[in-house]
Amino acid sequence: MEKIIEIQHVSKSYGYLLNKVKVLDDLSFSVNKGEFVGIMGPSGAGKSTLLNVISTVDTPSSGLVKISGKNILEMRSGQLSDFRRRKIGFIFQDFNLVESLNVKDNILLPLAIDHIPVHTMEERLQHVAEILNIEKILTAYPAAVSIGQKQRVAAARALIVNPMLIFADEPTGSLDSKAAAELLQYMSEMNRQDRATIVMVTHDPYTASYCNRVLFIKDGSFFSEVVRQGSREQFFNQVIDMQATIGGGNRLDHF
Ligand SMILES: Nc1ncnc2c1ncn2[C@@H]1O[C@H](COP(=O)(O)OP(=O)(O)OP(=O)(O)O)[C@@H](O)[C@H]1O
Ligand SMILES: [Mg+2]
Repeated sequence: MEKIIEIQHVSKSYGYLLNKVKVLDDLSFSVNKGEFVGIMGPSGAGKSTLLNVISTVDTPSSGLVKISGKNILEMRSGQLSDFRRRKIGFIFQDFNLVESLNVKDNILLPLAIDHIPVHTMEERLQHVAEILNIEKILTAYPAAVSIGQKQRVAAARALIVNPMLIFADEPTGSLDSKAAAELLQYMSEMNRQDRATIVMVTHDPYTASYCNRVLFIKDGSFFSEVVRQGSREQFFNQVIDMQATIGGGNRLDHF
């Protein structure tokens, strides 16, 4: 199995001296190419911080982050930004849309920077817009669309580059169950057909049930791991049992 992500002894603290708070505490794990990995844990456990550190958005206070064998902390900033734009798709918890650009231009932004031919951009736009059901809002500005639509636009922008690595922070947090299922179905297809590797933070066991493996973190440390073996429904049940063990989860029946 080819390891695409390796995290070794990663810690992250905020603040100084007496105000110092350790948010990530000596985390080590790896993700194989083609895996669909979930990260769960109570609010404030450090999930977003961890995802930002893995995905090159943030740097750890100590430890090593390797992507495809390369230490990303040693990559030059130009090299790193090209790598991010071409190989990685991010779906952020707070969407990060550019308010002065309409929906279509927000989605096309990563392709436009790389001077991709217009007909290719249009083709890919059509494809993602259809799947995520945002065709009707392409000319609207972010301020004028709903939260759920913003989330789908953020997903479209991340997925339009056909990334080899997808990082998603609560990608279904603002979606109704139909839109969530559609997005998760699409991500699963990218994972199975295109062999995209996905790392997704979620608090929702239904969303997590689309993963092959879920890591649980608590207070910045590794707590446990659940690996899917049987059906998605069985995995869903394993995930909620672990959530109950870790604390902070409710049992909801989606099936
Ligand atoms: N820039 C920062 N400065 C200081 N503390 C921070 C900063 N960013 C995050 N934290 C703290 O780190 C801890 C972990 O935050 P993080 O956002 O990673 O949690 P999370 O698991 O993603 O939570 P949620 O489920 O609510 O999104 C929290 O206690 C938070 O207050
Ligand atoms: Mg978070």
